[in-house]
Amino acid sequence: AAAEKGGYDYFMMKEIMEQPEALKKTIQPRVTESGIHLEDVSLTEEEIKNCGRIHIVACGSAMHAGVVGRYVIEETCRIPVEVDIASEFRYRNPILAKNDLCIIISQSGETADTLAALREAKKQGVKVLAIVNVVGSSIARESDDVIYTWAGPEIAVATTKGYTTQVSVLYLIALYFARVRGTMTEEAYTAAVKELHDLPEKTAEVLKVDARMAEIAKKYANCENAFIIGRGLDYAVAMESSLKLKEISYIHSEAYAAGELKHGTISLIEDGTLVVAIATQESLLEKTVSNVKEVKARGAKVLAIATEDCTAIEDVADEVVYLPKVNHLFTASYDVLPMQLFAYYIAVERGCDVDKPRNLAKSVTVE
Ligand code: G6P
Repeated sequence: AAAEKGGYDYFMMKEIMEQPEALKKTIQPRVTESGIHLEDVSLTEEEIKNCGRIHIVACGSAMHAGVVGRYVIEETCRIPVEVDIASEFRYRNPILAKNDLCIIISQSGETADTLAALREAKKQGVKVLAIVNVVGSSIARESDDVIYTWAGPEIAVATTKGYTTQVSVLYLIALYFARVRGTMTEEAYTAAVKELHDLPEKTAEVLKVDARMAEIAKKYANCENAFIIGRGLDYAVAMESSLKLKEISYIHSEAYAAGELKHGTISLIEDGTLVVAIATQESLLEKTVSNVKEVKARGAKVLAIATEDCTAIEDVADEVVYLPKVNHLFTASYDVLPMQLFAYYIAVERGCDVDKPRNLAKSVTVE
């Protein structure tokens, strides 16, 4: 069994460390210097140009990948994007127009609610593009188009490489669509394509934060509550980071849009409460810094995840983990890495069964 885990104690760690390779397999065949190539997509240029609205539908971490997708697609393609939890979407009589596109995201390709949402979209005559990891799975078979994430088998219940490869495919789609729609300047497009191309390599760099996260996790392993805050793309990552923490370490954790704290959650902050502030969006930094001051004043312990240029956070946080500065659209792919490690090491410290957390299944085929 140790060999199966590639020498690691748990599949989750093996899979965290496999992310550079998984991203490389997913991205590199589809990115060249001339741009993005999505042979897997049969949508015509006309259909992409006329796309009225995108509905991203998924469950769990795949839905969180969708939230990243919403920010990135709206910014680069100027198409309105809605993200839905599959089990909500299907029962709400969703309003879909003929020129809308439905993007279904699923690692396993077998999640019952997600599959049902796909069928609902198809029934209404909307094209479905799926992002799936398992080849030949039900969702892959029933969708009009499939873009596979080439993450390889994922065994740990808590997804890591599944999620980051889904995010990378959403970047591919965003840039591909933006090019067709002419919504990005040549300069911005070229810079983003380069950034996407370099993502696997930079992911390997960022994963070197491993030992540091193990140290930090020791300090916080006994906490019972955590709040993970951020704005914009950082909020999307906060959602996924929070899920990781609660799934495997059983720490009660909430993700909050930093600006919304003052409307309720801040009443829960007391001496020693852990707040993780994700602050990689330079344009929103000042605001997030002031939110951190607010929680600090109420006794919170603050761990910040920031990019090298966001040093203002240093004066207010107890601890800062710095990530390299990247194109602002791509921070989501990096912030989540220290948070995966943080959740992992906290779970290990607490003696949890990291790969098989209680009450959870890898693939949920009941509705
Ligand atoms: C389960 C897993 C999650 C996963 C979700 C959706 O709840 O524990 O990690 O995000 O299902 O799975 P899918 O295979 O559709 O991505």
